[in-house]
Amino acid sequence: MATVVLAYSGGLDTSVAIRWIKEKYNLDVIAVTIDVGNERNMQEISDRATKIGAIKSIVVDGREDFVRYFVWPALQAGAIYEGQYPLATALARPLIARLLVEVARQEGAIAVAHGCTGKGNDQVRFDVSINTLAPDLKIIAPVREWGMTRDNEMAYAAEHNIPIKVTSASPYSVDQNLWGRSIECGILEDPWEEPPADVFDWTADPDSVTLEPTYHEITFQNGIPVALNGDEIAGYSLVEKLNSEAGKYGIGRIDHIENRLVGIKSREIYEAPAAVVLHAAHNALEGLTLSREQVRFKETVAAEYARLIYNGQWYSAQHQDLAAYVQSTQRFVSGTVRVKLSRGRCQIVGRKSEHSLYSLGLATYDSGDQFDHNAALGFIKLWALPLTTQAQAQLLPSIGFEGNLLNHNTDKVQIATKTTEKSPEA
Ligand code: ARG
Repeated sequence: MATVVLAYSGGLDTSVAIRWIKEKYNLDVIAVTIDVGNERNMQEISDRATKIGAIKSIVVDGREDFVRYFVWPALQAGAIYEGQYPLATALARPLIARLLVEVARQEGAIAVAHGCTGKGNDQVRFDVSINTLAPDLKIIAPVREWGMTRDNEMAYAAEHNIPIKVTSASPYSVDQNLWGRSIECGILEDPWEEPPADVFDWTADPDSVTLEPTYHEITFQNGIPVALNGDEIAGYSLVEKLNSEAGKYGIGRIDHIENRLVGIKSREIYEAPAAVVLHAAHNALEGLTLSREQVRFKETVAAEYARLIYNGQWYSAQHQDLAAYVQSTQRFVSGTVRVKLSRGRCQIVGRKSEHSLYSLGLATYDSGDQFDHNAALGFIKLWALPLTTQAQAQLLPSIGFEGNLLNHNTDKVQIATKTTEKSPEA
């Protein structure tokens, strides 16, 4: 019989989907459980799929690939959506899509399936990625198709003897991986409501932290963290370690009203301790090693890059082009950053690099100053030249000089407009 490869999480939706797909499409289900650092017992989840009726169940450890090909490039780019969301969920989707396609090819499946609803970004990310990588594969999204409420699903599960862990009675929808935890639904749908304590799992309440501050040194090589406190450490271990260390201080809580690709505003809470610390540290090292122009232009690229990830366009030429720019900027972003963790707060307190552009001789106000103070006069003269020229020709004659030209009030601006409008007629 023809088969479909289902991204299986072990939750209610994908558990019900195993039986529903069989009934509706008459396809045998191969369940794939992908570990992107979601800290749960993957084998146990995977075994449940076969109990429910999957003909085969596979666990794929995607952690290393996730960090190497998705998390680190996003960190190097400084990709944070709308200035707030470090993109944990969004980054894992193209990897999961790729792994689904890979398994589908190995198994000779004709379709892939995922548990996304019809309202979110994730369906777009999955479908666009799968269509791009394997246009011949059919995509089945049971939750988008079946129109069942949660209660209907529970009834369906009971009817079909699908074992469901009732412990997952949480009022929230949660997605998590190494780079962060995303929480929505329930009371959080009211943007005026403060997130209750039970929303959080990775971070302590910053107000009840009693720990003394600690310092950590993060070493980067070409924009990638390679060591923590002097010890070389594998990528995902470093992220795990920082999630737990910074989490203890209540660092990394984010409350975001975000603009979904499908046009909805939604309220999501994120916990991303490691992402918050690493972005801050990486940014600090760039501050030391990139020129003013690189810093400025890279901010634009970072925003574009974040949008592209959020909007599910990972497998695109635009992505390759932006990534090429980012990689080029990282060739001198090597060095060490010292961070201080204290209640709810991650502070950058030191940075050093062999490629530092910081020159004490130029910066110092003490002896040893090498900056040419006289050259400043010539520089200022030329820098001001276009401004003084324009002020003489246009601004001073039309609005006059009353104390402070730049502090012009609206009346004056309107008068100025009238004067200039009138003059051609006169
Ligand atoms: N809003 C985030 C995104 O679009 C996370 C989506 C999944 N969130 C969840 N709680 N299930 O990337």
